[in-house]
Amino acid sequence: MSPVFQPDLLKDKVALITGGGTGICRGIALAFAAHGCDVAITSRKIEHLEPTRDELKARGVRAVAKVADVREPAAVNEAVAAVAAELGGIDILINGAAGNFICLAENLSSNGFGTVVDIDLKGTFNVSKAALPHLKVRGGSVINISATLPYLGTMGQSHAAAAKAGVDSLTRTLACEWGPLGIRVNGIAPGPIDGTEGVKRLTSGKSRASALTQCPLGRLGTVDDIANASLYLASEAASYVNGVTLVVDGGLWLRSARILGE
Ligand code: COA
Repeated sequence: MSPVFQPDLLKDKVALITGGGTGICRGIALAFAAHGCDVAITSRKIEHLEPTRDELKARGVRAVAKVADVREPAAVNEAVAAVAAELGGIDILINGAAGNFICLAENLSSNGFGTVVDIDLKGTFNVSKAALPHLKVRGGSVINISATLPYLGTMGQSHAAAAKAGVDSLTRTLACEWGPLGIRVNGIAPGPIDGTEGVKRLTSGKSRASALTQCPLGRLGTVDDIANASLYLASEAASYVNGVTLVVDGGLWLRSARILGE
């Protein structure tokens, strides 16, 4: 059997990656480009996009950057249509745009809760819906970036945990609705990924040390860990995988409950 990650694994494919200018999604974009995929990235801020777009082009693929807030369906529709026109379709969608902060529910406003739900959950819906007509044309793959937050009662994360639980539900529903159209819909739930905005925002020195102690593999994740999982799910190697959310956290969440006697 040939190795799975061939250099041309995603050759002739076009990927649209929301939040693709920075962090985990930048890593996915660069890995896809290294495997021959043309890539479009979106963000609310052009300054988050331009350096990554240039890095993508330097890998020899076509790359475009579009400013769009995933909360605004009209802006999303316009960006998706422009990407499909410029790159000749869309085969892969990564819903990576997300927002988060730590705040106990007691101190969180309705707008604060709703803002994160609007970005993470409604944003995933908005972009998926806009991309559907293009994904249908050749068949495709959607990957929703989720989180392990909803698996346990993660304090200070009522907003994000609820939003990501909704994302996982959307993954399962769309997998059933869009599977017959030749579109697989899966998710990835990353653990703490070193060097990302998420880890900067959500972990303190103490919680970082705790994650290192608790993780069965004894380390935080890397951007490449998530990029490799994305390559798998987006490629033909996962052609019978549909409706799952793949946890990529070294087994950390399994150890996150308190151990009796400790
Ligand atoms: N604690 C409590 N509430 C907060 C908050 C915090 N740290 N940050 C924002 N909010 C509340 C605001 O008070 C506001 O509610 P209010 O109107 O009742 O006061 C609401 O959330 C919206 O805030 P605003 O700053 O207007 O939203 P925004 O759309 O400009 O920004 C965020 C969205 C809040 C998610 C912002 O953190 C962001 O842009 N994040 C993007 C990057 C990111 O989070 N990456 C990490 C991914 S893991």
